[in-house]
Amino acid sequence: MSNEALENLLHENRVFPPSPEFAAQANATASLYDEAASDRLGFWAEQARYLSWATDFEQVLDWSDAPFAKWFIGGTLNVAYNCVDRHVENGFGNQIAIRFEGEPGDRRDITYSELKDEVSKAANALTELGVTAGDRVAIYMPMIPEAIVAMLACARIGAAHSVVFAGFSSEALRSRIDDAQAVLVITADGQNRRGSAMPLKPAVDEAVAQTPSVRNVLVVRRTGSDVEWTDKDVWWHDLVESQSAEHIPEAFDAEHPLFILYTSGTTGKPKGILHTSGGYLTQAAYTHRNVFDLKPDEDVYWCTADIGWVTGHSYIVYGPLANRATQVVYEGTPDTPNKDRWWDIVERHGVTLFYTAPTAIRTFMKWGDELPKSHDLSSLRLLGSVGEPINPEAWMWYREVIGGGRCPIVDTWWQTETGAIMISPLPGVTACKPGSAMGALPGIGMAVVDDEAQPVGNGGGGYLVLTEPWPSMLRGIWGDPERFQETYWSRFSGMYFAGDGAKLDEDGAIWLLGRVDDVMNVSGHRISTTEVESALVSHDAVAEAAVVGAADETTGQGIVAFVILRGGVPEETAKGEQLVKDLRNHVGAEIGPIAKPRQIMVVPELPKTRSGKIMRRLLRDVAEHRDMGDVTTLADPTVMNLIATGLDSGSDDD
Ligand code: PRX
Repeated sequence: MSNEALENLLHENRVFPPSPEFAAQANATASLYDEAASDRLGFWAEQARYLSWATDFEQVLDWSDAPFAKWFIGGTLNVAYNCVDRHVENGFGNQIAIRFEGEPGDRRDITYSELKDEVSKAANALTELGVTAGDRVAIYMPMIPEAIVAMLACARIGAAHSVVFAGFSSEALRSRIDDAQAVLVITADGQNRRGSAMPLKPAVDEAVAQTPSVRNVLVVRRTGSDVEWTDKDVWWHDLVESQSAEHIPEAFDAEHPLFILYTSGTTGKPKGILHTSGGYLTQAAYTHRNVFDLKPDEDVYWCTADIGWVTGHSYIVYGPLANRATQVVYEGTPDTPNKDRWWDIVERHGVTLFYTAPTAIRTFMKWGDELPKSHDLSSLRLLGSVGEPINPEAWMWYREVIGGGRCPIVDTWWQTETGAIMISPLPGVTACKPGSAMGALPGIGMAVVDDEAQPVGNGGGGYLVLTEPWPSMLRGIWGDPERFQETYWSRFSGMYFAGDGAKLDEDGAIWLLGRVDDVMNVSGHRISTTEVESALVSHDAVAEAAVVGAADETTGQGIVAFVILRGGVPEETAKGEQLVKDLRNHVGAEIGPIAKPRQIMVVPELPKTRSGKIMRRLLRDVAEHRDMGDVTTLADPTVMNLIATGLDSGSDDD
């Protein structure tokens, strides 16, 4: 973020307190802060009591082997039972859990009792395929109810799921299956995107051909497209539908693995973030109840995320279902068949609580006020934002145009690693400033520190750290305990280093400033510069590549790549648009379409320090068309002129 933008942010002095009506009915009151402050662990024990435990826990936290935490020691529970069965047992079997809407317009309402049957059948099917507690199952699926059923079925039998976003490439899927040694892949024939059926199964076939750990592939029929069939493949409708709807959920230890979710780090290899059961579910449910103010008997909740990301895990599957929410699940894109699809959904389903990302909000701003204004959005009573800093203009637009000026906005900061929301206003308590996530939730220890790990105090800027362990914290990186310690716990002793820069304003409100490492945030998704560089370098024509995240009005950051071609690539090719297209497609095939660079520049040299480190800051300046910063540490300052000259030659705007 530029200094000018930062200065503007910190002079933001509009404040929006909750309305008296909202505050009067809110789940969370200011007393939560006092309770958590006076007895933090007692507070978390109380939050854990919202769940049903098969065996009660004896101790809240064991931090003796830090940074490897154990929460709710001695407790056992079944996560799927907590999300489904207990609501049926409590008499809410007829309440709708999922209001599904497919992109083509097909609808399906699923009650909690139907969900219980579906999850039980799927659990029986997984057992028939030989999947047992402790196994890993890869899920590569569109946003359809079966994806949620598949996740819950894994949880029910104690197998850890590893959901891989269906927009990722076959190669990304392969490496994740391989890292976790998954025994089963659950997928679909295809998914509906922008009005057409996009195949999914071929990517799975390619990945599975190279991953011998996979014994079977369970395939949901969604689009009806023709698929190749191998002897590992089983149709969901053949195997699952014929199973018994009776399944007795076994209770697992609070620390039993629930899922692995891969996220980009600063090296080319994604990290398998491991979450376990009791602590994760406790905090997912606690935050969902208090930050979104869920009233299970009245609200219609909609989180627009995909289950391929952590937001989908915690705020579509586990948090809302543990709290007995009724929620909308939508399969497709916001512009199909028209650019008002989301507002049409809000109106038709009477959505009351709505959770989305700043990149989507900015896109809608661009599309114009008429689209939301042509719908009755008066059912909305709370709006949420996640994934990247929300700029004050977008915050104000969200509040006025979507929220009609009456809905509190919760700007929620958290990460795949934190498992659940850590920093956010409480909607009936906190007076919000547009663009600020305000402060740590009750029970969470957070600070902004300088290089020496000293708190910066109000008015200061530095690194965001978490100062106390929390229930839904990651328990490690799958198969790599050293990397876990090194990445998060070595920078500041005894504190979790989040990788984000932040400032505290004069009132102590927090302003998130984006990543301080080599990780980009594109439309709220984390992509590492190294990962994209490795993908580029794996192309025959590329000798070296440097990638930076450049400011982008809509997506937050856009990926800009600088490449040096190998000797021997003919000049004609080097200058041609075709090469840039090929390189973008190559990155798409290696990682996924979301990682395709916005712009690729073919350059003769890259700016490096004398020790050979690429100076990304300078490249970012070039990519953002800023005047060049300090180049005195450059081995060869003239290099920047060369790069600047080549600036527009290789751009590609599609
Ligand atoms: O940089 C922060 C940004 O997203 C990162 C976490 O990305 P991921 O693990 O993919 O999870 C995204 C959804 C929780 C953080 O390190 N981030 C997330 N939420 C916010 C945010 N930045 C500013 N404000 C937020 N509300």
